Order: sequence, then structure tokens, then C-alpha cells
Amino acid sequence: SKKVVLGKVLLNEMIEKDVYKMVIRQEEAAKSAAPGQFVNLYTKSESMLLPRPISICEIGTDTLTLVYGVVGKGTKEFSSYNVGDAIKLTTALGNGFTPADAKVHILVGGGIGVPPLVELAKHLEGEKIAVIGFREAPFLHERLEELGVKVYVATDSGAHGFKGNVVELMEEKGLVGDYYYSCGPKPMLRALAAFCEAKGKPVQVSLEERMGCGYGACVGCVCKTKAANEVGYEQKKVCKDGPVFLGSEVAW
Ligand code: FES
Repeated sequence: SKKVVLGKVLLNEMIEKDVYKMVIRQEEAAKSAAPGQFVNLYTKSESMLLPRPISICEIGTDTLTLVYGVVGKGTKEFSSYNVGDAIKLTTALGNGFTPADAKVHILVGGGIGVPPLVELAKHLEGEKIAVIGFREAPFLHERLEELGVKVYVATDSGAHGFKGNVVELMEEKGLVGDYYYSCGPKPMLRALAAFCEAKGKPVQVSLEERMGCGYGACVGCVCKTKAANEVGYEQKKVCKDGPVFLGSEVAW
């Protein structure tokens, strides 16, 4: 459940164009966090009352590392914070990924959906492969390699790694896993869910890119899951019921 706590910024730096890494010291939030969850960050200005949901990239003993995109006013403000600043946040929210028992895990990420896969990688036993796509420059690929993950990069332009999307890259390299996890833009998740369904492989998808307020107030995050009722689907809130769903349960 939601609890607002006060943290301290230990690091806040740009790691790629419009992408920042922030380390926050907050013991209670760190202790309760799991891979695939998110926190809500509050801006200091009174004019923006809605917090911003940011996915957790790494969990330390008393720290959380967040890697976030600067996409609007709120995240722009976060990017200006200095080391030592106080920051208001919630403890970890959402269901998170469930590490599966599998020989070969494939982590599929797109852009600012890559961060939650980093903490997840630490919780998986067996062979780990990441297939991550970016518009231009990649980030977090080196961190994943440090964690023993075999990393394949795709970019739209082909400036780095494979030119194309992550599903094309998996096909090109003949990568086959027993279990898949993913976070990124919806078209990528939809394509991956179809790919996994065709191969008969399970996939967990995080729909977090759709979130607005992160706590049930904006309904910007509503998605449909399959259901055995007369309309054939159910409305779910990504911030409350997710952000992680089985690919097979989402009504794409
Ligand atoms: Fe606002 Fe879910 S993100 S209601």
C-alpha cells in the first residue's frame, strides 16, 4: 500500500540524452521494493500535485536507483535536483515481475522500459539474455553485461547494434528462451506477446509506460484483459492491478 516517505538524493546525472540516473537513499522504500515495481516521485512545486510514477532500476540495501526519461515538466524538475536534496516519494508500488524457473530467460526492453529489467536480471537463475531496443543511443547495456547478461542491442537507425526492432533481432540471431519478460512501448509489447504466443512461450509484460498519476486518480492507465464475460474483457488499471501482466491475459 502507498506510503509517502522522505528520501535524499545521492546522485543525479545524465547518462544519455534526456535520460537521467538518480540514486535515492530511503531505507524503508528500498527494503520493501521488488523488481518491476515503481515509486511515485513528488515535485517540490505546488502547481504540480500529481506525482510521477518512475520504475525502479536497481534496489540497494538502503537505496533505490531510478533511470528516468525527461519527458515533461515534472521529470524536468527531477533532473535539476542536486546531491543532498530531499525528495518525497512513495514506497514501492505495483505487483512487479515474478522470476520464473527457467533455463534461458530473455529480457526484452524498449527505451525507457529497459531500467526495470536490470533489477530483474539479479533475481533470475540460469542463462540470461537481454534484447534491448532504442531510438538512437543505447543505455544500461553495459550495466546488464556487468550482471552476467548476454546483451543484444537494436536501434531504429542502426547507429548502434542491429538496425530494426527487438523481435526482428531475436529472429535474426535465432534467440530462443524458455521464459520472457518485457517492458517498453505498447507496440513492442504487443509484437512480443504475439511472437511468444506463436512459439508457445510465456511472457510477462510491464505496461508501465501508460501510467499517468501512478495511484488510481487519472484513469490514464486503463487497459483491457481477457475475461469470460459477455464483452470478453475486463478493464484493469495498470497502476493498481499491474504494471506487470501475462502477455496472454492482455486483450491487445
Ligand atoms: Fe493514474 Fe493509473 S496511472 S489511474
